[in-house]
Amino acid sequence: MALLEIEDIHVRYGDMVALRGLDLTVEEGEVVCIIGPNGAGKSTTLAAVAGGVRPYKGEVRYDGKPILGMPPDRIAALGVSLVPEGRHIFGSLTVAENLVLGAYMRSDRAEIARDRERILALLPRLAERIDFPAGRLSGGEQQMLAVARAVMTRPRLLLVDEPSLGLAPRIVDQIYEILLELRKTEGLTLVINEQSSNRVLKFADRVNVLRAGEIRLAGTAAELADGEAIRHAYFGFEKAAPAAAAPIQTQAQSQGGAA
Ligand SMILES: Nc1ncnc2c1ncn2[C@@H]1O[C@H](COP(=O)(O)OP(=O)(O)OP(=O)(O)O)[C@@H](O)[C@H]1O
Ligand SMILES: [Mg+2]
Repeated sequence: MALLEIEDIHVRYGDMVALRGLDLTVEEGEVVCIIGPNGAGKSTTLAAVAGGVRPYKGEVRYDGKPILGMPPDRIAALGVSLVPEGRHIFGSLTVAENLVLGAYMRSDRAEIARDRERILALLPRLAERIDFPAGRLSGGEQQMLAVARAVMTRPRLLLVDEPSLGLAPRIVDQIYEILLELRKTEGLTLVINEQSSNRVLKFADRVNVLRAGEIRLAGTAAELADGEAIRHAYFGFEKAAPAAAAPIQTQAQSQGGAA
């Protein structure tokens, strides 16, 4: 059974349609990336899973259970944690205090302390700055802190919204290496949003291209490695993707041509 199943979700903000029938399945232990331009619906997709927005149609199942309509804290308690776009760490609080906030739902103090030490062992730069105000960290360190804080909830599914934002390529690689290490040590499954596929293809198992609220292309990172099909789907060129790539199934096609 897949850990996460998103089935035909539709989301609207007022008159604005943000997702128009999105499907996505994530197996336990996978790293699945959603890439797409500004406004494609990437954050909305993660918010629909984490309980931040409520699709007016469709279904989301986590570990086989329907979670659509549950409040965010209940979904978090089931093991879903979101690293939000823009990190949202508390700049005037220390690194240690930010990590404590990540564990706010837990009461097992000894376990929390052990988790903190284990996570910090993977993040020596954060460990060295444990009593610094988080606002004084570099962008990359703040991203690491946002990830570490989310992992303090002991998730099974980590949703990471644009971890690369504003970071140099070398730092982005470090962030991904940490995410992959956490997958191993914490047994995480990852869904990661990015605006570009530049660095994603070498870290992800599967990639989905989202544009204007629909998945335009889905395939394994190996199938999409040359980037050609991704470019077509991303920019919405008319020409079909190369045969090696997974077929592009638009919502219009899956609904038999109805828009
Ligand atoms: N709270 C909101 N109210 C109204 N419209 C919204 C809201 N949040 C998102 N939208 C709109 O919904 C669409 C999808 O937005 P979303 O933030 O999910 O895209 P995104 O792919 O995450 O974009 P970005 O790469 O800029 O983060 C956009 O057109 C956006 O303007
Ligand atoms: Mg976004």
